[in-house]
Amino acid sequence: MSRNILPEPPEELKQLSHTLAKHIREKLGTDGMIPFSTFMEMALYEPGLGYYSAGLHKLGESGDFVTAPELGSLFARCLAGQVTELAETLGSYDILEVGAGSGRLAADLLTALEPGKRPTRYRILERSADLREVQLEHLATHVPDLLDRVEWLDHPPESGWQGVLIANEVLDALAVERFRMGKHGVEQVCVNWESGRFGWAFRDAPAALGQAVGHVASDTKVEFAEGYRSEINLHTADWLDAVTCMMTRGLALFIDYGYPRGEYYRHDRTDGTLMCHYRHQAHDDVFFWPGLQDITSWVDYTALAEAADHCLLEVEGYTSQCMFLLGCGLDTILSGNNLNSEDGGLALATQARHLTLPGMMGEKFQVMGLGRGLDQPLRGFRLQDLRYRL
Ligand SMILES: C[S@@+](CC[C@H](N)C(=O)[O-])C[C@H]1O[C@@H](n2cnc3c(N)ncnc32)[C@H](O)[C@@H]1O
Repeated sequence: MSRNILPEPPEELKQLSHTLAKHIREKLGTDGMIPFSTFMEMALYEPGLGYYSAGLHKLGESGDFVTAPELGSLFARCLAGQVTELAETLGSYDILEVGAGSGRLAADLLTALEPGKRPTRYRILERSADLREVQLEHLATHVPDLLDRVEWLDHPPESGWQGVLIANEVLDALAVERFRMGKHGVEQVCVNWESGRFGWAFRDAPAALGQAVGHVASDTKVEFAEGYRSEINLHTADWLDAVTCMMTRGLALFIDYGYPRGEYYRHDRTDGTLMCHYRHQAHDDVFFWPGLQDITSWVDYTALAEAADHCLLEVEGYTSQCMFLLGCGLDTILSGNNLNSEDGGLALATQARHLTLPGMMGEKFQVMGLGRGLDQPLRGFRLQDLRYRL
């Protein structure tokens, strides 16, 4: 989609974006470039200016995109089915939600869990100071009686805990490197500033990027043609280790749009998976008003499974969001629905369609469960096992 048909941001927000662009330009190296990963990191998280740090209204109908928890409570009610099963095994347990957005999932999940099955602590690890405030307000309004068990962490837990980690649409919001196959090998895709705007620039890939791309190529047996571009996250294993290393027993659930590696790096997917969201329009212009739009890349689930191995976590399951939610009991929730409930029958049916249809969130969103110390089948993964595709 061309930027010409994207809605024009209001003047005061353009000023915010100009300030962020100035900060980004100050980071350009002596060769006039920064890696794309630095651009993405600043565009999303530069304090006070980045998309997730600047107090913009991002999620939900009036924002830029709608996530599964923002559709309504059905997603949380399904997750409660999986969490309850684990609660029965673990006894007392915590939930750690990473990247909690508006706080809606936290409130709806705490509400959906039966009182005896609720976590001792619902901990939130949220990078954005602005979103932490939004989460607190949402939880204080919707679950005031349960607020005392919610706490915000400044960094991943530093002492042992058991329970469930949930990260919905977080991996896709982590900054990634871009690479291009050049005439003489792998190149690092960078960003420069020319004629008053950001643009693409290229240089030889640093060793770590070259090796990572080499690993992908040998694993997929794809020979990338000259000009092929894609993304790669060089820090998945470190990040995963940081958020799970103190989980002594439990399950980490990652829900995001993504592919197994063979599909992610298909020879005909020649321009990668970057996607931007602005006012409910998905497009690929990453330089459109930095800081005012979301920038995401799809998740390489094979890389997540490799990272899990590195972190001594077991891949307990990998499936589509549709099959995960059905396994968790989505159909039972729908059939037992009270039409007079707040989430009335029609609203629930609409959510169910959005969450499960292949053309909507049902298949492009996938779920991976990484466990430690678990020895039981998990209901979310009982209907479909896609681990063979990793
Ligand atoms: C696309 S939003 C998803 C929000 C929410 N999970 C949902 O589904 O509505 C990404 C969230 O992850 C947070 N985030 C990104 N990187 C993070 C990190 N390294 N640690 C914690 N939170 C992070 C963002 O601030 C934001 O809350």
